[in-house]
Amino acid sequence: RETTLTDAFGRDITYLRLSVTDRCDYRCVYCMAEDMVFLPRAQVLSLEESIEVCEAFAELGVNKIRITGGEPLVRRGITTLFEQLGQIDSLDELTLTTNGSQLSKFASQLAHSGVKRINISLDTLDAEQFTELTRFGKLNDVLTGIQAAKAAGIERIKLNAVILKHRNLDQVLPLVNYALEQQLDISFIEEMPLGQVTEHGRKTEFCSSAELRKLIGEHHSLTPSAHQTGGPSRYWSLAGSNSKLGFISPHSENFCSSCNRVRVTAEGKLLLCLGNENAVDLKAVIRRYPGERERLKQVIVDAMSAKPEKHHFYEDDAPQIIRFMNATGG
Ligand code: GTP
Ligand code: 5AD
Ligand code: SF4
Repeated sequence: RETTLTDAFGRDITYLRLSVTDRCDYRCVYCMAEDMVFLPRAQVLSLEESIEVCEAFAELGVNKIRITGGEPLVRRGITTLFEQLGQIDSLDELTLTTNGSQLSKFASQLAHSGVKRINISLDTLDAEQFTELTRFGKLNDVLTGIQAAKAAGIERIKLNAVILKHRNLDQVLPLVNYALEQQLDISFIEEMPLGQVTEHGRKTEFCSSAELRKLIGEHHSLTPSAHQTGGPSRYWSLAGSNSKLGFISPHSENFCSSCNRVRVTAEGKLLLCLGNENAVDLKAVIRRYPGERERLKQVIVDAMSAKPEKHHFYEDDAPQIIRFMNATGG
């Protein structure tokens, strides 16, 4: 390839996370405000524009694309997007992160488009707690969705769980045991301070990965694993199982030095780091110069110099990030 994406710190950018909507059928307490106002549709990239962006990134050496949201599966036309992206030959991986609520409906179409791995957010196996955490969700929809994904032949399914100390800490072991039983991978995520949440204090709810690993280690035999997906999770093996146990620890085990990814928001902003506001408006370029692929690619190449070395979450003087996770795609 003639040009690839490298930032000022020598990191190669090969992973794009594209958010296709800021909307979601849930309102998870750590992700959104209860009275969230969503973007007007005209401000969101069209499917054609999203494909244009993905093709430009693929030509620049990106080999992994993850579709995110909000909830990607509530976006109209989402199956067409997956079908088209599935045809970009240079991609090693096309995948998504979903809350699972619509998977029963979409799993087989996703599998047909070449999706081999799916990450599903699941923070609790207690139905009542699930509805409290998601404000709207029904646990059973997600459990049915997981079965549908397995039945559709999705090869690897990873659960993502955000643990809040006074909410779902009691769910860590049940979730690990469920993952083992169902032969799924599972990652625990330290909550990140995006947007202003009202129901809980982020510091008082914080659970470190080390704490969770200790808790799980009292019941399972864990050894560090070389398993890698190109994402931020660091994996451990559980004796007697193929399931991998991952920890995403932006706070306690900073992984920024190996960052290989950028995000494009539903509005078409190229966001260079989750924990920073540096962004370049790709939608403006596409709408002003439709079809000018080389120009778009040059804007993307030039944007890499604005990627910061690391996030500053939890540093005492760090600026509050106003945007919520759903505006970013996690
Ligand atoms: P894999 O391909 O399975 O490794 O996926 P992933 O872990 O990259 O992605 P996923 O969508 O499952 O994200 C899980 C969590 O990791 C989400 O909460 C993301 O916000 C978080 N995450 C992903 N990339 C970054 C990053 O660059 N910085 C930070 N701070 N968090 C990230
Ligand atoms: N901190 C950490 N993870 C979050 N997610 C949403 N909001 C936050 C937050 N504030 C997670 C979801 C999903 C992934 C895309 O991001 O649980 O698994
Ligand atoms: Fe929706 Fe996912 Fe945010 Fe929950 S975490 S509100 S499921 S986008």
